[in-house]
Amino acid sequence: MKEQLQALQTEALEKVTQASSRKELQDVRVAYLGKKGPITEVLRGMGKLSKEERPVIGELANTVRGAIAEAINHKQAVIEAAELEKQLAAETIDVTLPGRPVPTGGAHLLTTIVEEIEDLFIGMGFEVKEGPEVETDYFNFEALNLPKEHPARDMQDSFYITEEILMRTHTSPVQARTMTAIKDKRPVKMICPGKVYRRDTDDATHSHQFTQIEGLLVDKNVRMSDLKGVLDHFAKQMFGEDREIRLRPSFFPFTEPSVEMDISCKVCNGKGCSVCKKTGWIEILGAGMVHPRVLEMAGYDPTEYSGFAFGMGPERIAMLKYGVDDIRHFYTNDIRFLKQYHKQ
Ligand code: DAH
Repeated sequence: MKEQLQALQTEALEKVTQASSRKELQDVRVAYLGKKGPITEVLRGMGKLSKEERPVIGELANTVRGAIAEAINHKQAVIEAAELEKQLAAETIDVTLPGRPVPTGGAHLLTTIVEEIEDLFIGMGFEVKEGPEVETDYFNFEALNLPKEHPARDMQDSFYITEEILMRTHTSPVQARTMTAIKDKRPVKMICPGKVYRRDTDDATHSHQFTQIEGLLVDKNVRMSDLKGVLDHFAKQMFGEDREIRLRPSFFPFTEPSVEMDISCKVCNGKGCSVCKKTGWIEILGAGMVHPRVLEMAGYDPTEYSGFAFGMGPERIAMLKYGVDDIRHFYTNDIRFLKQYHKQ
């Protein structure tokens, strides 16, 4: 029996040495030290031994079991250390490797410009309003003092949907909508950015769909000088403190008097160059004092209230500010164009 135990020890220790994974080691543990293992069996059969042999064999069995258990535990520690080593090696981060860029999007130039203009007018106490792109003939034309037979309607070739419904040709209907919606006829101070539609053939300076920002201020004693002050502030904030503005007489059915505003050309500083077509000035927007008929139709008493309005094209402003030479760049979504204007 003694030899049998010793042989078991040798055999078990040999298996421990050969085991190269936790699983194999666990198999050895179960095989030799488990309840059904040979050592347990020896201990169970002790009853059959003589009184003298019993303590000797018992001690030896315990020693053998202890030796095997120790060998297993030791090997276990070795295997675990090796596994950890391997894992650490696999997870090593080379901090000297160049990073992989994560491509991110950015706001479209037009969005940036519109938000910039919004912020500027919000800073002067204006509210930002919205209106529908599919508009009624009434709000797009009639309420703006453009009755059906009015020749100025020709200036705005429209996309009609029915006789009375069209794609709005400008953001001016939002003036009429805003004033009409105010029941207590309090003062108004709003801007409205949005898409507008015209039956134009697309080229470098025309697009059948483009953006406008409308402005409207109605209050008691509003004068042309108020309009000029607001526009001057706008122009200097947008294009630089050194810009000058100039108002030229013009015509719009919904304003009287009407003006067009120019800013002095930044490229030649007013001397005249190809950008300003040798005039030294660049046209930026249309504006004027709200026509009394427009106030009246929206429920405001023109003897009590007066106001000014203006309308501008953010595409044109962005083109001038950033030297964009073709309006189609805004709509064709060429990432090489758009990326140049992403803020970092
Ligand atoms: N609605 C005009 C257009 O589309 C622009 C405009 C001119 C708007 C004068 C105004 C204004 O509010 O006062 O051409």
